[in-house]
Amino acid sequence: MTISIDLARPEERPILDNLMQLYIHDFSEQWAGEARGELQDDGRFPAYEPMASYWIEPARIPLLIRVDGKLAGLALINDYSHSGQPADRNMAEFFVVRKHRRGGVGTAAAQAIFSRWPGLWEAAVARRNTAALPFWRNAAASHPGCRGVEETDVSNDHWDGPILRFRIEPA
Ligand SMILES: CC(C)(COP(=O)(O)OP(=O)(O)OC[C@H]1O[C@@H](n2cnc3c(N)ncnc32)[C@H](O)[C@@H]1OP(=O)(O)O)[C@@H](O)C(=O)NCCC(=O)NCCS
Repeated sequence: MTISIDLARPEERPILDNLMQLYIHDFSEQWAGEARGELQDDGRFPAYEPMASYWIEPARIPLLIRVDGKLAGLALINDYSHSGQPADRNMAEFFVVRKHRRGGVGTAAAQAIFSRWPGLWEAAVARRNTAALPFWRNAAASHPGCRGVEETDVSNDHWDGPILRFRIEPA
């Protein structure tokens, strides 16, 4: 299995928009009883607002994950810090399609991304996303360049859930 992480070119934005629809649908399971997560009349979820900025702001990096050359997910990186502490990179969005889950694709993709962009990372996990917490703990801690993972539990106006912070040393 070959996992590749490719920078999405501006003309590939529709691919990311399509993958975001699948990602939002996955998350909408956690939004029962809330206003967000409703489909529009055209059968799509509202567009992911910050997408355009990924080809404008230098700190924002749009990535496509492929398995053996086939699309299998996305990653969006920025430098926003949910903790309010300094961070070089934030894993803003990360998604592996269901067919390819639990086979190590997410871990391999995340670790390839960490290796390519070493530094001080943050990954904020929504409280209801119980699957993602063990995933990020393991993906960060088992990276050979990781020097420990700091985890804080945050509940404020900006975030509700655990925030993982870790430094990845360059190879
Ligand atoms: C979270 C996600 C990226 C994991 O991708 P993946 O390719 O399945 O991950 P891996 O196969 O590399 O999993 C590695 C480990 O993470 C943990 N893990 C992954 N999915 C899990 C789940 N559903 N429940 C509990 N632990 C899980 C396990 O420890 C797993 O090891 P194991 O399979 O040997 O038990 C994927 O489920 C996904 O895209 N989910 C929806 C979007 C999302 O939540 N993104 C993260 C936002 S913070």
